[in-house]
Amino acid sequence: MTHAHLITAHHRTQTDPTLWTPDKEPAKFDTGVHLHTPVPMPLQQTAGALAVASTSTSSLLTLIGHTPLVPLLRLTADLPSTVSLYVKLEGLNPGGSVKDRAALSIVREALRTGQLGAGKTLLDATSGNTGIAYAMLGAAMGFPVRLFMPANATQERVQIMRAYGAELTLTDPAAGIDGARQQVHDLVAAEPDLYFHADQYNNPANPLAHYTTTGPEIWQQTGQQITHFVAGLGTSGTMMGTGRYLHEQNPAITLVGVQPDTAKHGISGLKHLATADIPGIYTPGIVDRVMEVTTEEAQVMASTIARQEGIFVGISAGAAVAAALRLARTLAHGVIIALLPDGGFKYVSAPFWAN
Ligand SMILES: Cc1ncc(COP(=O)(O)O)c(C=O)c1O
Repeated sequence: MTHAHLITAHHRTQTDPTLWTPDKEPAKFDTGVHLHTPVPMPLQQTAGALAVASTSTSSLLTLIGHTPLVPLLRLTADLPSTVSLYVKLEGLNPGGSVKDRAALSIVREALRTGQLGAGKTLLDATSGNTGIAYAMLGAAMGFPVRLFMPANATQERVQIMRAYGAELTLTDPAAGIDGARQQVHDLVAAEPDLYFHADQYNNPANPLAHYTTTGPEIWQQTGQQITHFVAGLGTSGTMMGTGRYLHEQNPAITLVGVQPDTAKHGISGLKHLATADIPGIYTPGIVDRVMEVTTEEAQVMASTIARQEGIFVGISAGAAVAAALRLARTLAHGVIIALLPDGGFKYVSAPFWAN
């Protein structure tokens, strides 16, 4: 059976996409969670004050990753039967976002090398999701977490980090995430012995998480039929790791990076690379194409996905789907996978949703 047949059997034979039922799923698409992907290993016992490992922590860690792929049916109803769009729901990670993967990888590597442990505090700048992931892992594994985040983050993000027990400093919103990063650099320079600087923008363990988990999951879940991968660029860890893995499997796969159209934007988690500090882990040659999305387009799409697909996602997920749909309309054939970094729940107080 060809790739096109599989997709057709899935949902294009349905005249009304709302009639889709799980038993219509194509046989070779494993959209569930039973994947042969690397499973996070229980932590090793480490020296000093960091007494971790054991079954109680490993059970939380094994919930990270293995997220499902879901087809967008109503939003793609006007596309040819040979073009499909699936979304990977990273909001289903236990900390609520794709950043659980990167944070776990960073923490694991730091424990392995001894950079974290013996009373050291994990320190980093965050726009929200990575901080939540570090805070969750710190609580579960027993290390202190200190975070710097621009003060214009939604109240939900602030409260979630504090609920997990992290120490949070809010920074000048006008200076953005790069301002928060500068404050972290200054603090580490002043007191290097107190902190492990997780540095998600420059830490190779960030893209490595996606190279070893997100990429293999997508490759297996699509039965190796993926033609395009679409993801937003923040630290760029998701795209660098997933993209590198997918290109190694099939160099013909097109990697599409998504970014805001201007420096001043409201798409939390994404960077306007032309004007921002370029992350150290970003390798420009990996991305085949960059698509720009306006804040309004991303917001409207997030709302449309909620109302037409029943999937409540964050604004950067709206940006990814807006770009993926634009791309889909230019293709005659394709299996597009768009990665949706988080759910919408921690943004409900944002003015956009209030209106
Ligand atoms: C909501 C959201 N979307 C997108 C991204 C971008 O992911 P990455 O940093 O892997 O490029 C992030 C990163 O923090 C995020 O929090």
